[in-house]
Amino acid sequence: TWQLGDFAQAAIDHVRQLVGDRRVICGLSGGVDSSVVAALLYKAIGPQLSCILIDNGLLRKDEQAMVIREFGDHFKTDLHVVDAEEQFMATLEGISEPQEKRRRIGYAFIDCFKAEATKIKDAHFLAQGTLYPDVIESGADPDGPAATIKLHHNVGGLPDELGFELIEPLRDLFKDEVRQLGLELGLPESLVWRHPFPGPGLAVRCLGEVTREKLQVLREADSIVVEEIINAGLYRETSQSFAVLLPVQSVGVMGDARTYDNAIAIRSVKTDDFMTADWSRLPYDLLARMSTRIINEVAGINRVCYDISSKPPATIEWE
Ligand code: XMP
Repeated sequence: TWQLGDFAQAAIDHVRQLVGDRRVICGLSGGVDSSVVAALLYKAIGPQLSCILIDNGLLRKDEQAMVIREFGDHFKTDLHVVDAEEQFMATLEGISEPQEKRRRIGYAFIDCFKAEATKIKDAHFLAQGTLYPDVIESGADPDGPAATIKLHHNVGGLPDELGFELIEPLRDLFKDEVRQLGLELGLPESLVWRHPFPGPGLAVRCLGEVTREKLQVLREADSIVVEEIINAGLYRETSQSFAVLLPVQSVGVMGDARTYDNAIAIRSVKTDDFMTADWSRLPYDLLARMSTRIINEVAGINRVCYDISSKPPATIEWE
């Protein structure tokens, strides 16, 4: 066992007092904020916590298994994993407009979450990983970028609809404090420093219509990008690094044969606040390794590009 810091102990005492002997539901996404909320609640109230992970089929390679490992095994929580790939693929079928994709994913998420949460009988609270900057920004401008970005994470309206009381134990904290708390609670460094991942997941990195086949290609390419960034020791130095599957085909040669396959764009940025961002000056050798590996190892890709656009005027994501 580890020694808890003062910060963590104070947060635990506070949650215990607030919750008493009641049950709390917490959505897990694999991201830092929801993980820290869950870890904090688990330390505070143990078996009174139920976690829900919606696998929307848009997660990164091995992500579901990783969350199960980190929570199910590490914390022995009551973890409900909902395999909702079918439902998400069905609602996305034929849809290529980015905001419509987001909207449908948001609704499907609420549907799934509601269905699972309703099965947990004696639940009183719904926990959310709202941070201090979210509180300020959403208050200042409910339609601003922060509110839009969070739309998916905060299951808005749900607590009321389901008769839950909202509990937001990270409301007073900044991101760096959340990370410190996570470490004090015993979460692994790899989780605490994980790059942010958008709620709509790989759907906004699989340009145009989303299909299982395209997602599979993207997943493999993305895992190579991240693996190479980690091996180069640059994961912490970049804010987000990932692959995007482009809906264009171009000509290539493979042995004696002509290919006509898709292209992958590598995106890597450095940012403090995600409102502006600069593209990462990754070493050429690293880019070369990524490109060679993606083209050799991922069937259906014959070309790799590097995105050298900053935000603004580009955004971090491509959709
Ligand atoms: P953009 O692409 O707008 O992204 O420069 C800024 C940050 O927000 C994340 N992002 C999202 N997160 N739902 C989310 O939860 C979304 O729909 C969404 N869109 C973008 C993006 O990954 C980056 O960190």
